[in-house]
Amino acid sequence: MKKSILLFLSILLIQTCFAQLKVTDLTVENQITPLGLGTRQPRLSWMITTDKKNVLQTAYEIQVSTTKDPSKGDAWKTGKIMSDQSVYVTYQGSELKSSTHYFWRVRVWDNTGKASAWSERSWWTTGLLNPSDWKAQWIESGLPSDSVLGVCPLFRKSFEVKKVVNSARLYITSHGLYEASVNGQRVGDAYLTPGWTSYKTRLQYQVYDVTSSVKQGGNTIGVVLGDGWYRGHLAWEDNKNIYGKKVGLLAQLQLVYADGTKETIVTNGDWKTSTGPIILSSIYHGENYDAQLEKTGWTNSAFNDADWKPVKVNEVSKENIIASDSPLITKHEIFKPIKIITTPKGEKVIDFGQNLVGWVQFKVKGKKGDVVAIHHAEVLDKEGNFYTTNLRAAKAEIHYTLKGDGEETYEPHFTFFGFRYIKIEGYPGELSADNFKAITLYSNMKPTGTFECSNTLVNQLQHNIQWGQRGNFLDVPTDCPQRDERLGWTGDAQAFSRTATFNFDVSNFFEKWLKDLAADQLSSGSVPFVIPNVLGEKAGGSAGWADAATIIPWNVYLAYGDKKTLENQYASMKAWIGFMQNNSTNDLWNKGFHFGDWLFYRPFDDNDGRSAVTDKYMIAQTFFAHSIDLVIKTATVLGEKDDIEKYSSLLKKVKEAYLKEYVTPNGRLISSTQTAYVLALNFDMLPEGMRKQAADYLVQNIKSYDNHLTTGFLGTPYLCEVLTRFGYTDVAYQLLLQESYPSWLYPVKMGATTIWERWDGIKPDSTFQTPGMNSFNHYAYGAIGDWLYRDVAGIDTEKDGVGYKHIRIQPHVGGGFSFANADLQTFYGKVSSHWKIDNGNFNLAIDVPANTVASVYIPASSSGSISESGKPISVSKEIKQSGEDNGFVILQVGSGHYEFSSKLK
Ligand code: BGC
Repeated sequence: MKKSILLFLSILLIQTCFAQLKVTDLTVENQITPLGLGTRQPRLSWMITTDKKNVLQTAYEIQVSTTKDPSKGDAWKTGKIMSDQSVYVTYQGSELKSSTHYFWRVRVWDNTGKASAWSERSWWTTGLLNPSDWKAQWIESGLPSDSVLGVCPLFRKSFEVKKVVNSARLYITSHGLYEASVNGQRVGDAYLTPGWTSYKTRLQYQVYDVTSSVKQGGNTIGVVLGDGWYRGHLAWEDNKNIYGKKVGLLAQLQLVYADGTKETIVTNGDWKTSTGPIILSSIYHGENYDAQLEKTGWTNSAFNDADWKPVKVNEVSKENIIASDSPLITKHEIFKPIKIITTPKGEKVIDFGQNLVGWVQFKVKGKKGDVVAIHHAEVLDKEGNFYTTNLRAAKAEIHYTLKGDGEETYEPHFTFFGFRYIKIEGYPGELSADNFKAITLYSNMKPTGTFECSNTLVNQLQHNIQWGQRGNFLDVPTDCPQRDERLGWTGDAQAFSRTATFNFDVSNFFEKWLKDLAADQLSSGSVPFVIPNVLGEKAGGSAGWADAATIIPWNVYLAYGDKKTLENQYASMKAWIGFMQNNSTNDLWNKGFHFGDWLFYRPFDDNDGRSAVTDKYMIAQTFFAHSIDLVIKTATVLGEKDDIEKYSSLLKKVKEAYLKEYVTPNGRLISSTQTAYVLALNFDMLPEGMRKQAADYLVQNIKSYDNHLTTGFLGTPYLCEVLTRFGYTDVAYQLLLQESYPSWLYPVKMGATTIWERWDGIKPDSTFQTPGMNSFNHYAYGAIGDWLYRDVAGIDTEKDGVGYKHIRIQPHVGGGFSFANADLQTFYGKVSSHWKIDNGNFNLAIDVPANTVASVYIPASSSGSISESGKPISVSKEIKQSGEDNGFVILQVGSGHYEFSSKLK
């Protein structure tokens, strides 16, 4: 009896000691238990969960081991490190080896000196850290049909396994896209692999754990390849074979047997090849699949491949092969048909209710040789007929030939579509909704943000923004997913990047893409219009587009505290400044081609000059200054003292040149458009004394357009931010709630489920804008999402605590909203800001994660009117008041949940 009481008491004691401080959510390079990391110094992060308030980490201890027991710490033992860093702690243990499993754990101490228990064990594996680790050879089919739009070649290799296998990892990449199977089991759940990068210098490989598919005895690996971005049509004018004419495969299966011995199965001349059922597969044009040509069981050992051909080995360099460090494209939502329509033209059409990106999977029963064709469209026209003219040259269709034995199920392999509607032809029998489902495909980014308010139209706008991001974050940030474009347009990406960091974890996504930007940047420093660059060397250097080189690294740093991306991109950022400097005269960058404020408001038949045309060189000068400013900020973070000085003096000169060239002595800008004033104010181009007046000119301009915006791709992202900064939040809300064209809500009123490329993609008379450029899934104008999170709900990061280590909560009420809620999953944990108004009282509930602090701006007539959980803040020990600013009382709080209430003015 005595013994069990003692045992119970000791467990109770341990629990109370460690009870309240836990270390969870261990990640390496921002991924949970990643396979095949290519970095020798991965960054480790964790979260602290606790039920106490005001918790800050004061120290951590990490152990990394090659054995399953991290306490061995044979790779790294830090001991107790006095630091509050819990995000992106760089590994500094012994040199990492290739294809090795590393196990790790961490514990922390808090600001009361209390230690946590050790975290659960976690792990990562390394990839092939040296090109020489690749024992495999590049193989190609050598088949006559191996050309663009040709049959997708099959590759297979059988091998014997005589011993018990402990682990089997497949390292694989391709020229073109690959889909692999081991013993009939598909490898992994990623699609369109290896993804799209600047293949010439950066070709990703992926690593898969296939231990459960490998068995003793006969085994087979089978891989089919598709054109993809490697040789498929990209951009226009029959642009194809951009990276090469022949698709190829490089794969290596590493077996570790239970007895510790190893064996590697590699691609080489022993592999065999043949044609298969995928007759054609193209990113733009879709897929033709003839089920009659299927080779049943070809990825199993029993299959007889006697009539298959030997492959061709193609010895190309492997220097450009890199580990995959961004989220792969996977399947996500499934949409069932909401309606089956027969259009006035008699077309059979299915409506999935959401403009999405992915493909359709369908079931069919019919005769051998029957052909089912599926076409994809975003909209129906005014009459209700199927409309595909805006897809331009992209055929975006499926042709499936039945093999005619019972129910057949089909989905594509190496293409994707942007659509809400499909038109079906040749389908044997009745169309039934049960036989069709639309499956979304996009980069497997963690969803991080939600925003909701009392206005349903604004909630739909938020929905459309998030669906625009889902549809266009497909390994690269594309401008659109449906027409013969779908390119990594830099301008769109920079405009949307801050909003993107709220909705999803895009840290690794952008880190990868920015490396491609630096890879494709010209030696002159010019940045191509699209990344990866498929438009040629001349297609680059436009203000607002090329500045993605500075703007996105900085936004990623702000959102995630990711110094490494700044380090990675610093040379590229400076090179871009260098290009502008070399193309400037007297610090004025007024040369070359620029897109300007793309798609600014332009009324039809504009006889009295209401089009909001902003001088392109004036715009260029503002982005010249902004990019220099971001390089100065980056140099400050990286401790590059000389550069701080050098660029600060350049910035001064560039702004002076701007003032002389584009601003009248009375403070008017030569282009008096909203975008002109927004960029001048947002980038601090004007001296302090001129700013209020400029903000007034901006508001007058908005009034002169009857409370409508007129901004294009470059002015729109900052419009409401600038209005709020200069005390015109009410005008910002008016623009947000404007329902007639041009506005954010006009497309919502017109039934949009994503963000449109143009403010009037569908005109008020329900006719369409010019089909030559009219996408209904372009995220650039969705950049308003940033203002919803940061200013309406009020969640932002302070610059002195990036990545939400120091949070700023500053909600701006208005627009007749009775509530607005935003949650953001940061690397420290969930931040919440939920406000509501009732009976003149403002109520704000917030969550602040452990190991962070927050500055909370409460709109209140005085601090005396503010209470927290019903008690006046003056009595609280935890809440410090630090000032008042513009109708806000500023409070400083530590981690925890708070419920504030105040009397509004
Ligand atoms: C693209 C845009 C891009 C623009 C630049 C368009 O074709 O769709 O996203 O920003 O060109 O001109």
